[in-house]
Amino acid sequence: MSFRFTRRSFLKSTALCFDAAAFAISDDNTQNEEKDVWAIVSDMHISEWTETPPEHNVRFQSVINAMLAEPVKPRRIFLLGDNVYSGKQEQYNRLLEILQPAVDAGIGIHAALGDHDNLENFRAIREKLLPPEAKADKSITHFVRTEPWATGDDKHIEILETQRANFFVLDSLVKTNQEEGKFGKEQLDWLAAELDKRKDKPAVLMAHHVAVDVSKFADGGLADAIPFWKIIGKRRQVKAFFFGHSHYWFNHRSGNVHQVNFPSIYRCPPLSVLGWVLMTLHDDGVCLTLKTCDPADKRNGQQVNLRFV
Ligand SMILES: [Fe+2]
Repeated sequence: MSFRFTRRSFLKSTALCFDAAAFAISDDNTQNEEKDVWAIVSDMHISEWTETPPEHNVRFQSVINAMLAEPVKPRRIFLLGDNVYSGKQEQYNRLLEILQPAVDAGIGIHAALGDHDNLENFRAIREKLLPPEAKADKSITHFVRTEPWATGDDKHIEILETQRANFFVLDSLVKTNQEEGKFGKEQLDWLAAELDKRKDKPAVLMAHHVAVDVSKFADGGLADAIPFWKIIGKRRQVKAFFFGHSHYWFNHRSGNVHQVNFPSIYRCPPLSVLGWVLMTLHDDGVCLTLKTCDPADKRNGQQVNLRFV
């Protein structure tokens, strides 16, 4: 991208992408096959509280209830970062409390970390996000990398191998409350090697930050966006990159990679929406169904089909 990516240009690109999305809307056509359904949510910014929980915490509780009320329960929930407000342990404890009904329903939860997160405090709750049913599910091979790199850089990374696609949950957090993100050379080298081991299925990459160079994105881009795109652009199995951070809901395509920016639960900028997404996997792509926090919003139920060709 050659333009400076600002809130203003985001508004313009969002408007364009809603137009583009209108062409991609179609019926979800998996009626005759077993549904392969997942939930994706971003930027909850869960806060601590003493007496009354803040509005966004309550909103996220409602979202979890809505996920559990779906006719086909999501197999897993992906969190795309800025999971808590400022990385505090108490906030992660509250996050776990809100997620507990999903965990109790046997749904495993996987999280990317964003600029409001804290690795050490997240790790204190991570094991509790995987119930025994999720661990016993042989249809998903789950890998978690927890060892620090040789440089001492420490990241939380997960891979989920499934029948139709491989999911890579990446870590772009540098330091809690530092807006700019970075994968780091070791994570990028690791990503290239792990992608090369998995050429047979579509790869869907997930991380918190917008994959735009920091010099072009005023609100905290990715310091190593350029090497990231060099790695994924030439690996044809990479079909999609899902991210949060901007709190906008839009999609566009960069070469062979569908980029999807997921909406926030915490706050909604102009023209965007508060909500989450139900993802149905098909043999040749995914259908993303927007679930708005306000059920009366006319965008509720909007579907975007991404073909993995
Ligand atoms: Fe963020």
